[in-house]
Amino acid sequence: MDIFRTKSVEQSIRDTEAPEHQLHKRLTATDLTVFGIGVIVGTGIFVLTGQVAKEVAGPAVALSFVVAGIVCGLAALCYAEFASTIPVAGSAYTFSFATLGEFPAWVIGWDLLLELALAAAVVSVGWSGYFASMLASIGLELPAWLAGDDPVVNLPAVLIVLILTVILVAGIKLSSRVNLILVITKITVVLLVIVAGLFFIKTANYTPFIPEAVATPRVEGLKAPLIQVLFGITPVSFGVIGIFSAAAIVFFAFIGFDIVATAAEETIEPQRDVPRGILGSLAICTILYVAVSLVVVGMQRYSDLSTAAPLSGAFTAVGQHWLATIISVGAIAGLTTVVLVLLMGQTRVLFAMCRDGLLPRSLAKVHPEYGTPARLTILIGVVTMALAGFVSFGELAELVNIGTLFAFVVVSIGVVVLRRTRPDLPRAFRAPLVPVLPAVSVLACVYLMLNLPVETWLRFLVWMVVGVVVYFGYGYWHSRTATPWQKAQH
Ligand code: ALA
Repeated sequence: MDIFRTKSVEQSIRDTEAPEHQLHKRLTATDLTVFGIGVIVGTGIFVLTGQVAKEVAGPAVALSFVVAGIVCGLAALCYAEFASTIPVAGSAYTFSFATLGEFPAWVIGWDLLLELALAAAVVSVGWSGYFASMLASIGLELPAWLAGDDPVVNLPAVLIVLILTVILVAGIKLSSRVNLILVITKITVVLLVIVAGLFFIKTANYTPFIPEAVATPRVEGLKAPLIQVLFGITPVSFGVIGIFSAAAIVFFAFIGFDIVATAAEETIEPQRDVPRGILGSLAICTILYVAVSLVVVGMQRYSDLSTAAPLSGAFTAVGQHWLATIISVGAIAGLTTVVLVLLMGQTRVLFAMCRDGLLPRSLAKVHPEYGTPARLTILIGVVTMALAGFVSFGELAELVNIGTLFAFVVVSIGVVVLRRTRPDLPRAFRAPLVPVLPAVSVLACVYLMLNLPVETWLRFLVWMVVGVVVYFGYGYWHSRTATPWQKAQH
């Protein structure tokens, strides 16, 4: 069986030109950067900052953001090189098909489906929480069975996914306009936190900047991090090690820059603009995160920070209630764009997989008027609505982290492989220091993956096994790279 058959870069690009599978080219570097910021700034900064500062890193959480930003930066350089060489929808999936072969590409595509669908559902549930609390603040209490901690059906989450699905079907340019307005709101609020917060900083809150390390209570069984099970390394809170443990958590705040690469095919000048979009949005977000976290831990003692809404909580703590309300509105706008871009990225990956025949090709039809993959967008919208409405998540969000890190590992390896196998290809953007930089990127990602619980690893493996069954049951035989004989067998 030839499961490592590759699809040439030239073929990947030619496939994008078939009329009924052609996406409209409309996006510029600015659109992409805005898309990037739209999907990156979300739960991570609005929620995790407080939790991590309080429990794992103290005021040094700002350094954890720097560490996580560097790990993502290494992977981002690899993504940028790939996207400038193969400007085709599908991101890591397409890159792997051109380098490592069909089966590894399928594995990564399947992995991305998990990452994106779960992330969209998890963030829309978070959106629902903020939305319900904002309604409550103006006296409109939603019944507990519709929103709240354990609703029968999470109606606000379902509705937001429905609205965003309609927008996505209507066209990429409309989606990017809606996104732009929401991103401006979100960034204004983030800047407001930084600027207004400066006036309430008490320097005493910065000492100690790196609180003394304490051993965290040992967690056993499925909840223990894999690194503990394999090497007996117990997680430590605070201290220098705490900065790194916290980096594995705040990594979530950076997820999304990789999704910019999924829009490569809809970019007017992808070779130049996709690397700009990826690296630009990552750099802007890193600066914002470091600034916000420094301000927040300066406003309120890290041990007193709120874990649910730390940014608005810090303003409430200094008596600025109206600012706290504005920040909640910003969080709602912010989370909306995260869901929008996650759904878009999800559709584009699935689109590429269907177009290659690994899943039914008829699904990858582009709507004649809107120029978007309407069928797939609706299908994904419905699945995400079901997940967001009826499944309670909690730690499932960690599956998002493991899925993303796995994709980063594969892309980093892929860059080195493509340099060897196709040195001739024009590369508008070249990652520096290859192969050292991709190697460091792989090690850093694997280290962060090892910090995730055993349970997450098991769930991840189960999903992957299902994927392998689907591949050998369908994809292998229907792939466009399959031989006529293989196709005839099914
Ligand atoms: N980076 C995104 C967030 O923080 C996923 O919500």
